[in-house]
Amino acid sequence: MAENRPVFGMDYGTSYFKFGPLWVGKYPEMVENRGYFPRMSKVVAEIRGIEPREIVVGPEVSEYLESREDLERLYYPMRNGVVPRDDERGWKVVKELTRFALLKHYPGAQSPLGGRFTGFYVVAALAAQAPTYMYERLFEIHGQLNSEEGKTLVRAMTIIPQPLAVAIAEKATTCVVLEGGHGNTQITPISRDVIRGAVIPLNRGGSDSDAIARQILKDLGYPELAREDKFVRMFKEMAGLVPLDLNSAISWAREHPAALTSRFRIPGTTVEVDMGDKAWQRFLIGEFYFNPGHEVFESYYSRGFPGPRDTIVGDRVIPGKVSLAEAIREAVSRTPVEIQSTLLRNVILSGGAFSWTVPAGLEGVAVDSPTKLSRMLRDAGIETQPKMVREPQFSVWRGAVVYGLFLPEGVRWDWSTMEGWRYFAD
Ligand SMILES: Nc1ncnc2c1ncn2[C@@H]1O[C@H](COP(=O)(O)OP(=O)(O)O)[C@@H](O)[C@H]1O
Ligand SMILES: [Mg+2]
Repeated sequence: MAENRPVFGMDYGTSYFKFGPLWVGKYPEMVENRGYFPRMSKVVAEIRGIEPREIVVGPEVSEYLESREDLERLYYPMRNGVVPRDDERGWKVVKELTRFALLKHYPGAQSPLGGRFTGFYVVAALAAQAPTYMYERLFEIHGQLNSEEGKTLVRAMTIIPQPLAVAIAEKATTCVVLEGGHGNTQITPISRDVIRGAVIPLNRGGSDSDAIARQILKDLGYPELAREDKFVRMFKEMAGLVPLDLNSAISWAREHPAALTSRFRIPGTTVEVDMGDKAWQRFLIGEFYFNPGHEVFESYYSRGFPGPRDTIVGDRVIPGKVSLAEAIREAVSRTPVEIQSTLLRNVILSGGAFSWTVPAGLEGVAVDSPTKLSRMLRDAGIETQPKMVREPQFSVWRGAVVYGLFLPEGVRWDWSTMEGWRYFAD
């Protein structure tokens, strides 16, 4: 292991970009994976003392947001993990976020790990389904940043699939990693490397729980709050519960009307949501991510609420409403029979979409993600106890850093194996 190598991890998530060099410690930094294209004229910007800019990324974005229309000038390039080849705005955001991350941690001539600093060893993590042109473009961007900034920010770089980074962080060799982010859930059988033909990049993630939470807020009579994404997300994270079994949880809530909190105050605001006698709907928010095909949701669909989108993999269509258990079975069925039982014994959950917790007093009715999936898989005839990583939003970054410490200097990037270092300076 190269302990003094200045490894820099970058996890391009669908909603958050996690980044930082080895020496940031346990946790990476996290900013929204988005850019803002200001409309402000040069003159107005000068009068107000703001530097006129084509694009703004990072914490500064909020200084520029002024009105609801401004929200539309925000651009999230990786909403589903893939930036289209010709999406110039999207690539601009990726480039500026990368520049922001590298400049923020550029140490100057001395490496905090000792010796002279001669450029970072960047390990970037992309979605498992990311096409080759995304790799090419990301290499290109890092090279451009070196020349535009006039210094060697990046000495070498490599790219790995996010679920593989999780497997590395967990020291797992044969496993199925479910990387559940905001925009998608990568169901990824891994046997040393990602089994590419078996990956299901399901079009479902934390944002789908936001969608049902938004609908619930509207139905409760809070249509203005329902329009603000940030607010909806906070409400989802505070109020959402994953039921072990949805029908029993709903009956339980009806029999114990005082057991579920029904008022939610948003910290730092004057906003309060009162769910009244509808607190049982908290279970819908969690269930929807795991099983949007549950019959309870029929009444929503019949009112025009759109379910999660279908996923097309090769020539097959994975229906949007498939349960996560069914999707795991489908992914594993595309691997060699010989390794299927080992894969199913090692199901690893990672990503913020699995971060549900169980409030005191609700044990057994509400559950965490591994317990939920274990029950769903058992109902599908598969006995296994999935394992949750310790820091669901950071395990990709951590695995990327570990990978960067172990990948030998002499292994050069190879397009046929998709591994190795791509050097920008010697
Ligand atoms: N405690 C929580 N309960 C429910 N959802 C959560 C919690 N914490 C984070 N999330 C959700 O996780 C998602 C972000 O996870 P993350 O792994 O960072 O996604 P990505 O890598 O795709 O950007 C968001 O939808 C967020 O609302
Ligand atoms: Mg992610």
